[in-house]
Amino acid sequence: MTGSRLEGKVALVTGAARGIGFGIAEKFAAEGARVVMADVLENGADAAARIGNGAEFYRIDLRSRDAIFQMADAVHEKYGHIDVLVNCAGIARPCPSLQLSEEVLDEVIDINMKAPFFCCQAVGRYMRKDGGGSIVNISSGNTRMINVGRLPYGITKGAVNLMTEQLGAEWAMYGIKVNAIAPGWIRTEMVETPLKKGILNADEILSVSPVERFGKVEEIASLACFLACEESDYIVGQVIFADGGWNLGIMPNALNYIKENDKEE
Ligand SMILES: NC(=O)c1ccc[n+]([C@@H]2O[C@H](COP(=O)([O-])OP(=O)(O)OC[C@H]3O[C@@H](n4cnc5c(N)ncnc54)[C@H](O)[C@@H]3O)[C@@H](O)[C@H]2O)c1
Repeated sequence: MTGSRLEGKVALVTGAARGIGFGIAEKFAAEGARVVMADVLENGADAAARIGNGAEFYRIDLRSRDAIFQMADAVHEKYGHIDVLVNCAGIARPCPSLQLSEEVLDEVIDINMKAPFFCCQAVGRYMRKDGGGSIVNISSGNTRMINVGRLPYGITKGAVNLMTEQLGAEWAMYGIKVNAIAPGWIRTEMVETPLKKGILNADEILSVSPVERFGKVEEIASLACFLACEESDYIVGQVIFADGGWNLGIMPNALNYIKENDKEE
């Protein structure tokens, strides 16, 4: 669906070379935004070309704070304003906690927690100067539902939720709106790879899903668009769960009871 809800806006989306970040960039461009797609993957330029509408790729390893500030400076210098920031880049690194190395823990903390904060800081400086903006952090349903064997992921996404509340409260006075989306299960690389390896099981995931399906990238992208544009201006510091009701915590296969017993009159 195309529209003009982000007409004239400049949006910086991290982790945009593929998956949910790509879907968000695509939606934003379709709504009229000029999108800068930041990612470490080399093929990001192809992704930007697929999107069109002046979308451009910015290659960056978000583990570097200096690189993040340079990116914000470069984007602001080119366009004169950055209206929307989406912190979508993230990694999972499943591992039993007793075997977790400091190296892996540091990597996940750097990418999932420190990078979104530094992006908020680097872009937030400009947003305050320019009179405001919208920040959307991509958290995870795993902040409510424990996914065993993903401690670094869970704690860093939990930190993203608190960072969203903290910055939402602190920066509202600058006209900077900070919110987060906690997606459920979307079949991107992050989910397909562990499904293929048998670390995740699709039937088990669906057995605790009230909507009995995986989510779609487009469903996260349209929520990100809503949070990025003026329509959501009274929503501040919130973490919105877009997970088909997974976080309600139904028992596996609990819906079978309703299917078997809730007959139409
Ligand atoms: N897929 C899901 O079911 C799901 C559920 C909840 C939350 N999320 C979150 O959504 C976000 C996007 O995940 P996805 O499912 O699209 O996964 P993905 O693996 O397809 O995409 C992640 C992107 O982040 C980029 N990235 C990783 N490390 C980077 C770095 N150091 N510098 C720059 N870019 C880097 C990757 O290159 C990739 O393009 C993540 O934050 C993830 O935690 C995903």
